[in-house]
Amino acid sequence: MAEMLFFTQTEDKVIVGVGAVRYANAAYHKHLFQQAGVPEMYNPHSIESCWIAVRPDYRRQGVWNNNRECRMQYLGNRPCHSVRRVDNKKIVGDPEYRQAGSNFYAKTSEDELRLMVSNHDPVYNPSKRLRYV
Ligand SMILES: CC(C)(COP(=O)(O)OP(=O)(O)OC[C@H]1O[C@@H](n2cnc3c(N)ncnc32)[C@H](O)[C@@H]1OP(=O)(O)O)[C@@H](O)C(=O)NCCC(=O)NCCS
Repeated sequence: MAEMLFFTQTEDKVIVGVGAVRYANAAYHKHLFQQAGVPEMYNPHSIESCWIAVRPDYRRQGVWNNNRECRMQYLGNRPCHSVRRVDNKKIVGDPEYRQAGSNFYAKTSEDELRLMVSNHDPVYNPSKRLRYV
């Protein structure tokens, strides 16, 4: 389901960070917005940013920030969303995202989750399709 994978590597070509954007299963995607209490925000064109991981020995050195910038350049102003565990304090400063609705629980996880969105309208506007200007 991945549309694109993003790798961050060191100068000597060791891969130290990865991220991805994917089109998730539509029923699951809708379920997330329902659980967050904002079903009207569900946008079928929104791509999910996911699979974010940095090797433990390379954390806190800006690897994730590098990977994130690459993803943002690729996506431009396309609608995008991301699911976060509420208690993951490491993911705090993504200025391009805002929270959609309230924290919630989903079918796929025992953790409390929060849904983050970028380039989403409060009510989905189908005429905008993939690009938000
Ligand atoms: C979360 C994770 C990707 C961060 O990667 P990283 O390369 O260490 O992050 P960076 O060094 O680029 O820092 C990015 C921002 O997060 C903050 N941050 C990173 N680790 C943090 C921590 N342990 N506690 C608090 N803030 C932290 C940084 O201060 C930075 O903020 P800034 O841009 O305002 O300075 C990494 O810790 C990881 O792989 N964790 C395990 C997997 C995971 O939690 N994935 C996310 C699932 S949604």
